[in-house]
Amino acid sequence: MKILFASSEVHPLIKTGGLADVSAALPRALKNQHQDVRLVLPAYQSVTQQLAGVKTLARIQPPGCTVPVQLHETRLPDSRLRVYLVDIPEYFDRPGNPYLGPDGQDWPDNARRFHAFARTIVALAMDRAGLDWQPDLVHCNDWQTGLVPALLSLEPTRPATVFTIHNLAYQGLFDREAFRDLGLPGHWWSMHALEFHDQLSFIKGGLVFADWITTVSPTYATEIQTPAFGGGLEALLQVRADRLRGILNGVDYRIWSPNRDPHIPHHYNSRSLAGKAADKAALQREFGLPRKPRAPLLAHIGRLVEQKGVDLLLACLPGLLEAGAQLVLLGSGQPELETELQALRDSYPDRVGLRLGYDEALAHRIEAGADIFVMPSRFEPCGLNQLYSLRYGTLPVVRRTGGLADTVIDADETACAAGTATGFVFDEPTPQALATALDRALTLYRQPPVWKRLVQTAMRQDFSWKRSAGEYLELYEAALAGH
Ligand code: ADP
Ligand code: GLC
Repeated sequence: MKILFASSEVHPLIKTGGLADVSAALPRALKNQHQDVRLVLPAYQSVTQQLAGVKTLARIQPPGCTVPVQLHETRLPDSRLRVYLVDIPEYFDRPGNPYLGPDGQDWPDNARRFHAFARTIVALAMDRAGLDWQPDLVHCNDWQTGLVPALLSLEPTRPATVFTIHNLAYQGLFDREAFRDLGLPGHWWSMHALEFHDQLSFIKGGLVFADWITTVSPTYATEIQTPAFGGGLEALLQVRADRLRGILNGVDYRIWSPNRDPHIPHHYNSRSLAGKAADKAALQREFGLPRKPRAPLLAHIGRLVEQKGVDLLLACLPGLLEAGAQLVLLGSGQPELETELQALRDSYPDRVGLRLGYDEALAHRIEAGADIFVMPSRFEPCGLNQLYSLRYGTLPVVRRTGGLADTVIDADETACAAGTATGFVFDEPTPQALATALDRALTLYRQPPVWKRLVQTAMRQDFSWKRSAGEYLELYEAALAGH
């Protein structure tokens, strides 16, 4: 099958979160199952800067697009997957984050930027760029590619379309002026198309027009059909429920495995854990924390936003730190959370290690060196860090939501007795509920043989992409048969 995979992030070229990991790993897994998969990504400045040689394939003016586009080709470093880069200098040749300006606000021309990206994807999908390759199916991801299924619906000989929701909280909303500016068909200004409470919604292009919708865990697929998680789109998702599937993300274990991770100082596996103790000592040293092998070392890595529930962690930390726990945190995001974390670090300089910013290699060292990974998300479509944590034997403490609920088995009495427990799960998004779960974790941490068994069970879980890629392929077949 010929598949065009459209995404606004692909690891290692550009990454702000899990979308980048998925956009590299899923196409690779599909390629391993003998599919002809090609990626399409904006040519951001940081992407073109890190590539020694890109081949220019075409200069085009996609229909409906007011700016000229150059299409380049490159290959992903390890998988050799073909990537088409959409080069529009006035939209993508700028420094920094793909979506945010230096002031932390959305780039003011995001509607134009991702509209032009979508128009180019449509030109590729309809083989109008002179590449002599037409995909059978276009797989779009998140609001940045939401206009693609809508625009393709206007094409009689179009490929099938799949739209994946990685996070329904980001919908790509713009004012009516933007809708006029983009020259989209006037009848799309309707609640049955792209209009959403008097705004233009990019994500609705995917949700209304794609042949199939997926999201990244079965539990999130159910949750988004309710008002609490649906962000106002729950009724639409209910209507489309027969075309909505939850397919769990996987892990690229070539990148995330403690027995061969080039970013960590000491390798280990589930039979031989000495390296993990050495990684813990190294992490404590790196953050200037006392080298105490028996002090429980908690960790968190992520975007500092409301979704991730770091405020819940902040609220129950003082008690844990007083009791002898340590914390290492890597993240960046909302300034008020950053300030609170700095204040916490200043109050407990020998208990809290903090790095504000983005550091891929450090994320690996933290996964390896910590004992417990805290992920108290208010919602979590899938979540990758808990999956990485399982493989590194860093037991996750998670809220029972989305992909967290689908991947972590709570260490209650039954699961402990059966030897199936892999972490700690709590229900309410409150500091008290998190504190109780952390207390349970620390109680078992003080019983080394019990803890070791949990660690080993966690490390042996298999969330490789093979199974999920198989599920996507089945869905692609259904989409091809039915569109
Ligand atoms: P989300 O996509 O919602 O941010 P995920 O858990 O799916 O959450 O994926 C987050 C990915 O981004 C993980 O690979 C994680 O290690 C990485 N990440 C997030 N913040 C940072 C950071 N500050 N430094 C390094 N890696 C980070
Ligand atoms: C989103 C979600 C996260 C998910 C990731 C990759 O950013 O917040 O839960 O793992 O996408 O699908």
